[in-house]
Amino acid sequence: MIYGVFSDVHGNYEALKSALAFFKKNKAASFICCGDLVGYGPQPAECVKAVMGLENLAIVLGNHDAAATGRMDMKWFNGNAIAAILYARCNLSGAELAWLTGLPETVKTPEFTLVHGSPRKPLTEYVLSESQFLENLPYWDISPCFIGHSHMPVYFRQTDDAPPETDFLRPMSRMLLGGLRYVLNPGSVGQPRDGNPRASLGLYDSQKKSFEIFRVDYNVTKTQELMKKTGLPQVLVDRLAYGL
Ligand SMILES: [Fe+2]
Ligand SMILES: [Fe+2]
Repeated sequence: MIYGVFSDVHGNYEALKSALAFFKKNKAASFICCGDLVGYGPQPAECVKAVMGLENLAIVLGNHDAAATGRMDMKWFNGNAIAAILYARCNLSGAELAWLTGLPETVKTPEFTLVHGSPRKPLTEYVLSESQFLENLPYWDISPCFIGHSHMPVYFRQTDDAPPETDFLRPMSRMLLGGLRYVLNPGSVGQPRDGNPRASLGLYDSQKKSFEIFRVDYNVTKTQELMKKTGLPQVLVDRLAYGL
């Protein structure tokens, strides 16, 4: 089975459309979404609608999704994020809000584990270090474990006879997962933060046990124009051009 793996769309429908076109071209007929469909971007409803319509979808709740639906306190967010979360809340239909509210925090299947932040704190922890990876090992079992939240395409790997290993996932470098335990982050579709503004996403082949990262172009300017029209904070508009 080939899964299209994506995360942190954040209301950026232009980026999502490019990501879904890439998945279609590469024959990914199943999907893994690591959360944060809304927040930051100008088209939360379009993004929720498009993802709701995907067949064979595994998806978890992100912290911005949780805040937009009232499942999470706004104290976790800065002022710019709150402005965008409130914008999303006002723009989602009742059916879209109900669907988001019902998303689980953790998904376990025979082929992978899925959370937004980390297995032990699905809505709040950013996994960015080997020590956090080690501390989280008791909280999940089926490898790989897909995560999002940091907007960084990174992997963590447990080796048998050495300290755990982590690195950035570079585009087109195929990772063979073998029998070890992996945490994999596909990066962000709608607001990359690794200095590369192109949408980041992954393909997971559960038969071959391989994972590969790709970057795809999208119309950044169009998203920025829509954000300006809606009055979303300028700093959120500017960062998209730099991937920050
Ligand atoms: Fe996010
Ligand atoms: Fe998040």
